[in-house]
Amino acid sequence: MVDIQKNFGKNHVLKNINFSVGKGTIHALLGENGAGKSTLMNILYGIYKQDFGEIFINGELVEIKSPKVAIEHKIGMVHQHFMLVPTFTVAQNIMLGSELTKGLGMVDFKKANREISKLSEEYGLTINTKKKIEDMAVGMQQRVEILKALYRGAETLILDEPTAVLTPQEINKFMENMRNLARDGKTIIMITHKLNEVKQMCDYCTVIRRGENIITVHTDDYNEQQLASMMVGRELTFGVEKKPAAPKETKLEVQNLIVNDDRGIKRVNGVSFEIRAGEILGVAGVDENGQQELVEAITCLRKTTSGSIKINGKEIQNTTIANVISSGVSTIPEDRHKSGLIMKFSVAENMLLKNYKERPFSKYGRMNKNKINEFASDLAQKFDVRPQDCAELPVKKLSGGNQQKVIIARETSDNPDLLIAVQPTRGLDVGAIEYVHKILVEQRDKGKAVLLVSLELSEIMDVADKIAVMYNGKIVAIVDAAATDEDEIGMLMTGGSKK
Ligand SMILES: Nc1ncnc2c1ncn2[C@@H]1O[C@H](COP(=O)(O)OP(=O)(O)OP(=O)(O)O)[C@@H](O)[C@H]1O
Ligand SMILES: [Mg+2]
Repeated sequence: MVDIQKNFGKNHVLKNINFSVGKGTIHALLGENGAGKSTLMNILYGIYKQDFGEIFINGELVEIKSPKVAIEHKIGMVHQHFMLVPTFTVAQNIMLGSELTKGLGMVDFKKANREISKLSEEYGLTINTKKKIEDMAVGMQQRVEILKALYRGAETLILDEPTAVLTPQEINKFMENMRNLARDGKTIIMITHKLNEVKQMCDYCTVIRRGENIITVHTDDYNEQQLASMMVGRELTFGVEKKPAAPKETKLEVQNLIVNDDRGIKRVNGVSFEIRAGEILGVAGVDENGQQELVEAITCLRKTTSGSIKINGKEIQNTTIANVISSGVSTIPEDRHKSGLIMKFSVAENMLLKNYKERPFSKYGRMNKNKINEFASDLAQKFDVRPQDCAELPVKKLSGGNQQKVIIARETSDNPDLLIAVQPTRGLDVGAIEYVHKILVEQRDKGKAVLLVSLELSEIMDVADKIAVMYNGKIVAIVDAAATDEDEIGMLMTGGSKK
């Protein structure tokens, strides 16, 4: 890609990008949230058209007008947010738009199933082709997306933050799969924020910063610290600076809580804990050990079977979401699209979802747009949401990481008693992660109770004061963060016992 430029209105998103990738290599694309990584790859995949610049494939000048043309050039893409049809089976999704037919235009499912199975065996991407997407874990859905691209003959695979949604176990398998593909001559471009993965699996790495090319390097020649500084243009601290906690009165008290999932299976099985003002409790655990149901119960998104959940001594279990919010609970949810934002609404409207009825934002039932935009612009500046003049922009036009910042800005600015943060740094760049961790600690120091749920053990270790380990629906231990280490927590997370 030579001299690529792209503007969205006044926003010069890509200024002059040169990017080339060699066959059979794994190439990382690194950059801060909003740097232009997805945009660059969307241009390569024909979703956007560059305003200026040229694209060459195998030395030949090409014009990629649409994804269809990209596919003809053997380019496949797996997006940051998957694009599968939930009610279709794996095979139906993979075939979609390129169905094999036999006489009379009938879809030849048998042949398709055979071919998909063959592909999945060839690359070790095992999958049940008859299963529906909605019944599959995210890791499996991603496998479907990759197979879909390979089924269409992709030689170059673009993966936009493929590991952001995977558990540590799935990530290891994923890296192995990618290496197999590269060994087979496939070319892989991978956008990621995880520098350890870049080091572990990528041959080369290109860093872009605010729409400009910084450098392309051999990943072996640089360490994580150096890559991070190139990305953000300054030194990063890595690790969280904080004073010891000074906990005060109890804010959240959970007692003997039992919660079932949609199928009636007990997912939270007698959980008790409390969080006091001025402390951060981290919940560590392997995915699907009840963390999600626990948070859903506290935020009233899911009915509990028995037990009790008290905020400031007041029972909130099985009341209403509005009641939970007015009791002083703020939440940074796990799925930002499903439960954090209204994608069609502007950044300002999203920032005020909870307070738009209050003065000065509304008066006599009428919203005051100026006040709302003013408030949003202030928050956008404080939280470094990019582009800075985003108040009236639909939130769906922000980059993934900047969408997350909008939620964090909203949820911390309304002065909660309890802040629940679920995977708050998923998809964020290292600079933004540092920032979010600082905010969580700041909230703590302001006397808030913070519940941090994360699959990233290092995040829990860095940020939390106390760590509750969840395993199989139970909290198997609550330990002081200062008095433990990753080995001990890792052991507890997988059902082992304390040292
Ligand atoms: N369709 C669009 N309309 C207007 N602006 C857009 C559009 N798509 C992207 N942008 C803007 O382009 C810039 C780059 O966004 P992009 O999604 O490429 O970032 P990114 O590097 O992938 O970030 P992240 O790590 O957060 O995913 C952002 O400022 C974003 O707001
Ligand atoms: Mg992106």
